[in-house]
Amino acid sequence: MCVDQSCRRCGVGVALGLKVLEFAATHGYSSVVLGTTAYSPAAHQLYQRLGFRCVGVTNGYITPGARRSFLTQIFYRVRHHHYSLDVHNRKITLNGEDSRQERN
Ligand SMILES: CC(C)(COP(=O)(O)OP(=O)(O)OC[C@H]1O[C@@H](n2cnc3c(N)ncnc32)[C@H](O)[C@@H]1OP(=O)(O)O)[C@@H](O)C(=O)NCCC(=O)NCCS
Repeated sequence: MCVDQSCRRCGVGVALGLKVLEFAATHGYSSVVLGTTAYSPAAHQLYQRLGFRCVGVTNGYITPGARRSFLTQIFYRVRHHHYSLDVHNRKITLNGEDSRQERN
């Protein structure tokens, strides 16, 4: 997910995330998983606010199918955070308060 810099902190990220969760609920998915290599706190806070929880971290992550030189492997260490959300019982934080949204 990426929001244009001039439009950040206006709720676009939350709106996009909620759209994904709405799609998952409507189509009967039980969970949504995502991964991010973002270093800035913005993405992590957004996903946590949408109700995702971090279920693991992979150090030295390499995108499947990608190749990296030996030097890149030594100096460029990517941390990949794995997030998961239970669609049936999701919890979202709005305006600093928690509210539980049940699937219809
Ligand atoms: C992460 C990103 C998509 C968020 O989009 P956004 O439209 O700004 O997000 P929202 O306005 O809906 O913000 C929702 C919440 O996310 C968190 N958040 C967003 N930007 C933040 C920042 N710069 N610092 C800390 N928290 C932040 C806050 O909890 C925020 O709620 P608040 O504004 O009430 O405090 C956007 O910052 C972005 O495009 N970043 C660069 C790309 C990236 O890192 N993408 C994720 C890779 S997987």
